[in-house]
Amino acid sequence: MAELTVLEEPLSMDLENPIPIPEPVHEPEPRDVSPVVPRPLAGKPADLPLTDTAAIVAPPVLEVEKLNLWYGAKQALFDIDLNVRNHTVMSLIGPSGCGKSTLLRSLNRMNDLVDSVRIEGAVKVAGDDIYAPGVDVIELRKRMGMVFQKSNPFPKSIFENVAYGLRVQGVSDKQTITEAVETSLRGAGLWDEVKDRLKDSALGLSGGQQQRLCIARALAIRPEVLLMDEPCSALDPIATGRIEELIFELKKEFTIVIVTHSMQQAARVSDYTAFFWLGKLVEVDLTEKMFTNPSNRMTEDYITGRFG
Ligand SMILES: Nc1ncnc2c1ncn2[C@@H]1O[C@H](COP(=O)(O)OP(=O)(O)OP(=O)(O)O)[C@@H](O)[C@H]1O
Ligand SMILES: [Mg+2]
Repeated sequence: MAELTVLEEPLSMDLENPIPIPEPVHEPEPRDVSPVVPRPLAGKPADLPLTDTAAIVAPPVLEVEKLNLWYGAKQALFDIDLNVRNHTVMSLIGPSGCGKSTLLRSLNRMNDLVDSVRIEGAVKVAGDDIYAPGVDVIELRKRMGMVFQKSNPFPKSIFENVAYGLRVQGVSDKQTITEAVETSLRGAGLWDEVKDRLKDSALGLSGGQQQRLCIARALAIRPEVLLMDEPCSALDPIATGRIEELIFELKKEFTIVIVTHSMQQAARVSDYTAFFWLGKLVEVDLTEKMFTNPSNRMTEDYITGRFG
């Protein structure tokens, strides 16, 4: 990736001749400017698949600080520090069992449902510590939508699947619900395929449609962050492509954290990629950099398929 450097050399002035003569410009020595932690970009290089440079300099919406997690006596996450910026996509990659799903579930306190779990450290959503005493977990989960590996539509109509979250929240106004269902189905790229069969069972949809329905269901409650755990692993390449296009669109409105085993998918959809190994965050950086010039040898070996 080319660095754009604007040199502002001081101009020297010849008193006999008032025309400023520029000092010779010395090219700076090449140096390694690659940080391990993502930093704001000065400008958007043309080859980065980013839609919005402003998003890259946006403040983090998610901050994970020194997060440690144990299942009983077994530690699964070690000192994780990770920031996710507003309106960006962050991919979590790494070999099976390295803690990707555990971390994702820590972001909306789904791990609370596992009795043996103990957590130390902090996770902040827009500055609020979600593990602070007195946090309303139901409210938190409204802010953090989740889509799982296996689509899990309820045995209800397409309409009721999307309306579900609103009804649980106590919304009863018919027009509000109808509008939210349409907006969410459009947002999930499914509206045109289902608008004439909203009363049909969701279980009659194809696998790819069911996954988009689950995305619509997550969008209906207007979360701030969308967490996706291998959302395409059960889908064919066409359905996968649709979801990937969707992710690209959705980041205009949401911030997305996605777990994936596909290096190609991480490279295609995400702005940042974080590589985990045995519960530790090995490296996080701009996806472009991670896939072309990672700082850590293990990242390179994993990405090039030499282990994992
Ligand atoms: N409910 C649980 N109880 C006990 N240990 C668990 C539990 N869930 C996960 N673990 C353990 O925590 C570690 C991390 O698991 P996790 O599911 O987060 O990995 P992962 O990176 O998502 O793997 P995969 O790519 O296979 O989905 C593993 O050693 C796993 O066995
Ligand atoms: Mg997993």
